[in-house]
Amino acid sequence: MSLITILTQFLRQTFPYIRKRLLLAYIIIMTIILGTAETSLYFFLIHILHQQLDHELLTLVEVATPSLNTIETRGIESLERNLSWRNFFSQEQQSLEWYDADGTLLAKEGNLASYLPLSLDRVKEQKDAPLFQQDANIRAVTISVYESDLEDTDIILKGYIRASESTTNIQSTFSKLRLGLGLGGSTALILVSISSIYLTQQAVKPIQKVFFHLGQFTSDISHQLRTPLTRISMATEILLTHKEAIQPSDARKINIINGATEQMKRLIEDMLFLLRNDSFPNSTKLEKKTISLNQLLQEVIEEFEPAFARQGIEFQAQLVNRVLIKGDTAHLHRLFANILDNSLSYTHPGDKVHLYVEKYRRKIAICIQDTGIGIASDDLPHIFQYFWRSEVAKQQQRDRFGLGLTIAQTVAKQHNGDIFVTSKVGSGSLFKVVLPIV
Ligand SMILES: Nc1ncnc2c1ncn2[C@@H]1O[C@H](COP(=O)(O)OP(=O)(O)O)[C@@H](O)[C@H]1O
Ligand SMILES: [Mg+2]
Repeated sequence: MSLITILTQFLRQTFPYIRKRLLLAYIIIMTIILGTAETSLYFFLIHILHQQLDHELLTLVEVATPSLNTIETRGIESLERNLSWRNFFSQEQQSLEWYDADGTLLAKEGNLASYLPLSLDRVKEQKDAPLFQQDANIRAVTISVYESDLEDTDIILKGYIRASESTTNIQSTFSKLRLGLGLGGSTALILVSISSIYLTQQAVKPIQKVFFHLGQFTSDISHQLRTPLTRISMATEILLTHKEAIQPSDARKINIINGATEQMKRLIEDMLFLLRNDSFPNSTKLEKKTISLNQLLQEVIEEFEPAFARQGIEFQAQLVNRVLIKGDTAHLHRLFANILDNSLSYTHPGDKVHLYVEKYRRKIAICIQDTGIGIASDDLPHIFQYFWRSEVAKQQQRDRFGLGLTIAQTVAKQHNGDIFVTSKVGSGSLFKVVLPIV
């Protein structure tokens, strides 16, 4: 793979890909961290609120314990008196129930509508520890109440007290918490995404810079090579104009040097063009003027007609008048010249090349059709790649580099257009250059 291919591939595909991957990885990691932190915080707060509620209910049952005795001795009227548990009791949100040792309800205070049935088995299983229960919107704590017998030798079960409280209040606190955490999380995620764009940009900047300098270096070298090459070709041209002064065998060698120099000059020109327009499209500002398509195509055709005639290829052109396009004349000239050059190179004497124009509402298609060697369907996806040439093409034309169509497509894209190709081996090819019209 050539340096220019690597450079362009890196700058066009690999960098945006690395940036996207980094960005995605960063966002995923931050989302997981934020999500885990928020979920832990949420469950921790739920746990704290439940613990607080359990603590309140436990305090209430403990404070209400003496009243079980009072109910048993003086009846439920005794509850009317201002007993100490009332200070901890909310008539609307809570309920207090007193049971005897057989689990029969003796008294109930509070407006809580639904409550759980007292499950004696579960209370007994708990031994002396309080039993905490949760059912739908109600949280309850049940304790067993014991009393020493008269001789203080044994303790006897007097009954049970249960305090319940509606959890509607803390449920609404939970939903507010969820909303708050959701909003906070989303805001944090937006900020993380914005900052990650900046961070990934910063992360790839140094690598991008290195590649930019490498490209610049390649461009400079190519540029520097132009001058000695021009000197060589000037010297050989001078030598060839004075053939009488040199041996015929030397003239042949000088011709070879001349041909090779011209080939190198073309390669350098093409590489410089692609470096400036494809690898580093921002390095050159394209000056777009309104151009007459007819005039532009006429100029390219005039350039190629003699060559077509020399090679015995029947060339036909049908243009349409008054079509204006916006663009760079030299670049567009190069685009059509490269395609016509291919139809000249990959056809045989007796073949036909037809250039015609199809006009649409906002677009124009310049079609170049030939009856030449054609392109295999497996090869079609490669023809715009850097330095790609088919095996047949390599045998037919040895002094080419496979950059012509890469340049043509770069120019088409620069002008918001594209090139479409249909081809069949042995039958010929059709190149459609689609460009927007003014
Ligand atoms: N009109 C055509 N007919 C057949 N093959 C073509 C034609 N134009 C392009 N190709 C194929 O596409 C390849 C790439 O074209 P291009 O980039 O112009 O390179 P080059 O002409 O230097 O080989 C050619 O080598 C050839 O295999
Ligand atoms: Mg070519």
